[in-house]
Amino acid sequence: PLQGATPQWRPLLHYSPRRNWMNDPNGPFFHKGVYHLFYQYNPVAPEWGNMSWGHATSTDLLHWHEQDVALPFNETKDIFSGTVVVDTHNTSGLGTAENPPLVALHTSVFKKNASREPGVQAQSLAYSLDDGQTWKPYRKDPVLTLSPDSLHFRDPGVFWYAPGGYWVMTTVVANAPVVKLYKSANLTDWTFLSDFGPAGFVRPGMLWEMPSLFPLPLDGNEARQKWVLMLGINPWSIAGGSGSIYFVGSFDGTTFRPEGLPPDGSDPAAYDWLDHGADHYAAIPFSGLPGNSAVTIGWMSNWDYASQVPTSPWKGQMTLPMTMALRTVDGRPQLCLEPDSHYTALVAARPTLSFDGLQLVSEQHLLPDHVHGQVLDIDMNMHMQSADRAGIFVRATADGRIGTGIVYDMKRQLLTVDRSRSGLTDFSARFSHEHIVNMPAPTGDISLHVIIDRNSIEVLSRHGSIVITDLIFPPAGADRVMAFSENGTTEFRNMKITLLDGSQ
Ligand code: FRU
Repeated sequence: PLQGATPQWRPLLHYSPRRNWMNDPNGPFFHKGVYHLFYQYNPVAPEWGNMSWGHATSTDLLHWHEQDVALPFNETKDIFSGTVVVDTHNTSGLGTAENPPLVALHTSVFKKNASREPGVQAQSLAYSLDDGQTWKPYRKDPVLTLSPDSLHFRDPGVFWYAPGGYWVMTTVVANAPVVKLYKSANLTDWTFLSDFGPAGFVRPGMLWEMPSLFPLPLDGNEARQKWVLMLGINPWSIAGGSGSIYFVGSFDGTTFRPEGLPPDGSDPAAYDWLDHGADHYAAIPFSGLPGNSAVTIGWMSNWDYASQVPTSPWKGQMTLPMTMALRTVDGRPQLCLEPDSHYTALVAARPTLSFDGLQLVSEQHLLPDHVHGQVLDIDMNMHMQSADRAGIFVRATADGRIGTGIVYDMKRQLLTVDRSRSGLTDFSARFSHEHIVNMPAPTGDISLHVIIDRNSIEVLSRHGSIVITDLIFPPAGADRVMAFSENGTTEFRNMKITLLDGSQ
């Protein structure tokens, strides 16, 4: 075994590279039955630098096969984030009608000995004619620059805008901060469309990164399609550090207009958090999915402490790929996440332990010791009759000293993930302990879906409109589940615990 390795924290359900540093997902796409995931990767060290595109493939979004580095850094530039599209109609002319090219649009960061000023960021193109195995840089590099040259112009998100018959690119000037939209007929020549930059919630030093724009039907009704603009902000996320937000609105082929935002852009309430936890950043959608399916994946970490995360020999992992839907929840359209159908099928095929009508009166209850595992799926309802607070404690030791709490507080109407006693927490002073979300529950009924991996927890509630994603670093032996009710009675109903250890 490698010295200092931490196999106890190697995620089972979530992608992580065998070794070295990883951040943002890049250009996830589906093509010929295979999911491709690229990512910001340092091929030589477990720290940020030498940015390249790593590559992994999967047929079910759960089992990933790491491939060779797709776009390596070189002496003239580093490769930052971007998108891959399947150029089905060969609009770029880089392939043929029979073999349409895969086109990657990514940011290049030019170095000292390049023809540009060091640190300049611009958008470049690379393409593949062999289903993503090898990539060639386009002869003209870059294909899109900002004038004057910018050090913060990055993260192209590209999609085919069918009503207009052209490609649209979203990018950011991260420190402005502003989202800039461009269009192109051929993926190589880009013209400016519009800026999106409501100032209402911008805070000092806030960067905008990883923008994406996509349509979704509201409540499954194709006639009521709306557009979602998703964005990473860093810092000033709700859980501290970096996090993802979204706006819901309309797009007319030129301009994105969010709903509920006054013309002066002053209303900070017009956006929502994609996730209220600390570890879900740079989320972007897959392209090339069949029909109307929409799936997103994010980086499961936080710029506040990503470099101190105590895993080895890898540093960085992805969230679970999640299906996206736009649903009316609490009177407004909200972006809702739920695990993709491959995950649901995996859970359905594994042994499940069920509990119903478990009444707790001001007590902590350790579930029987056959309910234990490091990787679990928990689906449950709580009916809080008179309790002030109730919830579960997962990745817990039998004595209850170590564990991660998922707690609902009736008085404060708050759902909390508390990782203050989750295991190793002191590797960074910025590894925040409690992540909260306001969630009204007038009848005292709370439903929770919790996905626990060896070093993470994802909590979903309220039809997926509420998500809390957090890294945790528990000791391997902390594999128990506890239910608790404080100052009164709670009934745990229809609790299904599925053991996923060994499911890979
Ligand atoms: C977001 C980000 C992007 C950039 C990449 C660099 O996490 O900062 O804006 O392209 O990471 O690795």
